[in-house]
Amino acid sequence: MVLNLLLKHPDGHFLCFTVLLICFKCIILFQPLEDWDSGNVTTSVGESGQCLCHVFLPDTSFPADRVEHMQQVSKDMILEAKLNVYLKELSDLNVRVAMLETSPDKYIKLDFELLRIELREFEALVTQLRESLNSSSPIFDSLYTEIRNMTLIVNQLETYDKSNLDVIRIEFAKLQKKLKDCQEDQEFIQPDIGNCNHTGILKISKPMVVQLNAHLNSGYQYGGWGKDSKPIRGYESMYYYGGYSGAHVYDFYLYSNYDKLILRSEFKRHHIPSAYVGTGNNYIVHGNSIYYQHDVGMCKLNLTSSRYDFRAVSDASGSFSYSYSPNQNLDFAADENGLWVLYASDESRGKMIIAKVDEKSFGIEDKWNTGVYKQLVGNAFMACGIMYATRPVDLNTEEIFYAFDTKTGEEKQLSITFPKFQERYTNLDYNPMDQKLYMYNNGYYVSYNVRFNRG
Ligand SMILES: *[C@@H]1O[C@H](CO)[C@@H](O)[C@H](O)[C@H]1NC(C)=O
Ligand SMILES: *[C@@H]1O[C@H](CO)[C@@H](O)[C@H](O)[C@H]1NC(C)=O
Ligand SMILES: *[C@@H]1O[C@H](CO)[C@@H](O)[C@H](O)[C@H]1NC(C)=O
Ligand SMILES: *[C@@H]1O[C@H](CO)[C@@H](O)[C@H](O)[C@H]1NC(C)=O
Ligand SMILES: *[C@@H]1O[C@H](CO)[C@@H](O)[C@H](O)[C@H]1NC(C)=O
Repeated sequence: MVLNLLLKHPDGHFLCFTVLLICFKCIILFQPLEDWDSGNVTTSVGESGQCLCHVFLPDTSFPADRVEHMQQVSKDMILEAKLNVYLKELSDLNVRVAMLETSPDKYIKLDFELLRIELREFEALVTQLRESLNSSSPIFDSLYTEIRNMTLIVNQLETYDKSNLDVIRIEFAKLQKKLKDCQEDQEFIQPDIGNCNHTGILKISKPMVVQLNAHLNSGYQYGGWGKDSKPIRGYESMYYYGGYSGAHVYDFYLYSNYDKLILRSEFKRHHIPSAYVGTGNNYIVHGNSIYYQHDVGMCKLNLTSSRYDFRAVSDASGSFSYSYSPNQNLDFAADENGLWVLYASDESRGKMIIAKVDEKSFGIEDKWNTGVYKQLVGNAFMACGIMYATRPVDLNTEEIFYAFDTKTGEEKQLSITFPKFQERYTNLDYNPMDQKLYMYNNGYYVSYNVRFNRG
C-alpha cells in the first residue's frame, strides 16, 4: 500500500510527513521524513515540485472500505500538525515581544490599537476553527493562552512608551494569514479557479486585515492594492499598491511577493509623469499592465515596457462618482472573462454602464446598460461576467445589493452582507486567480474570500 502525503511548511518548505496505518488508525509522525530511517519509506519530488512520501505497507493493514474515513482523519491531523507549528511560532513571537520590553530604544513607532484588533481577530479565528472542527484538542487552549499572554504584554508595552512593534506586526500578520488560510481551507473548500459553472456569489468571508498601507500613513485614505489578475510568467506572486491623501494617483509600488509587501520593500516604484497622472482609485493590474483613470478616460501603464497609453471613453461622464469618494468615474475590473471598465454617462442619466475592454486594441468592444445609479453604489466589481454593486448597511457592514449578468442581460436585487474593518473604502476588486476580493479600506489592506453557489 502506498500513501502519498505532503504538507507545505509555513515557512515555504515542503515537509514530508509520514503516515502509518496501524490497527485502522492513522498516526502522523511530526517529523520530516529525512529523519525517519526506514527502508519502507521513500521520498520523491512531484511534478509541481512538491514533496511526495511513499509509505509501503502490507495490503492487509489497509482495508479499502475504510479509506474515506481514513482520509478525513488524516485531514484533521494535518490541520493539527499545522496548528502545532503556528502555536510554536506564536509562542516564539511572544518571547520576542517580551524581549522588546527590555530594549525600548530599538523601536520607532507602533499602532497598539491595530495590534490589539489583530489579536482579537486572531482569537476569533481560533474560535471559528475550533468550532468548524468540533475539536477538543488542547492545542486550542494553548493558542488562547498565548494570545492572552501577547495581549497582556502589548498592554504593558504601551504604558512604557510609544515604541515600535513593526517587526512583530509583520511576523504576526504572516502568522495570521496562515491561520486564516487554514480556516478557509476548512470553510471555503478548495476554490475552483477559473470555473464559472455556478449561479453567482453565495457568501463573502470575514475580512482579513493585512496591515496599514506601505506609507504607514492613516491619512492615505485613497488608494488600492492587490495582485495581477492575469500575471505573466515570473510575476505570479507580485502585489501592487498605490496610496495618497487625495483622489489623485501619482505613484504605483510593486512588491515581488507577500512578504515584501508586508515589509514595505518594493522592487519598483513607478512615478507617473504629469501628463498621465491618475484621477481616481479604481485601478487594477492585469496582464502586467496597470489600468487606471486619467481625466475621464482609460490609461494603461505597461509594466514590462514602462509605456503609457491613453484612450478617451467618449460617453463616460465625470459627474457620477461612487458614494465613498470623489473622482471615481472609471472603475476597472477583471474576471474570468477578461478586462472591463464600469462608468456612467449623461445619456444613461447616471446609471452604471458595463464595458468590455479589448486588451489588444485597448478599446471598448461591447457595452451593457444597467439599472443601478452609480452614485448610490459604494463600489463594484466583476466575477464570471456578472457585475456586483455594493452599498453600506452601517458603519461596519457592507452589502452586495445588485447584480447584472452580461451573459443574459438580467439584473437582480440581492443581499449578501459582509463586515468591514473601517467604514469607507476607495477600491474593491475581485481577482479571478485566487477568487478573493481586495479592498483598500480607509488606508488598510483588506481581503476576503468569495464563495460561489455551485448548487
Ligand atoms: C517493510 O515492511 C514489511 C511489512 O511490515 C516488512 O516485512 C519488511 O521487512 C520491511 N522492509 C524493510 C526494508 O524494512
Ligand atoms: C507569557 O510569555 C512570557 C514570555 O514569553 C513567558 O515568560 C510567560 O511564561 C508566559 N505566560 C504564560 C501564562 O504563558
Ligand atoms: C461535537 O463533538 C461532540 C463530542 O465529541 C458530540 O457530542 C457533538 O455531537 C459534536 N457536534 C457536532 C456539531 O458535530
Ligand atoms: C455544472 O454544475 C452542475 C451542478 O454541480 C453539474 O450538474 C453540471 O454537470 C456542471 N456542468 C458542467 C458543464 O460542468
Ligand atoms: C507590454 O509591453 C510588452 C513589451 O513591449 C508587450 O510584449 C506586451 O504585449 C505589452 N502588453 C500590453 C497589455 O500592452
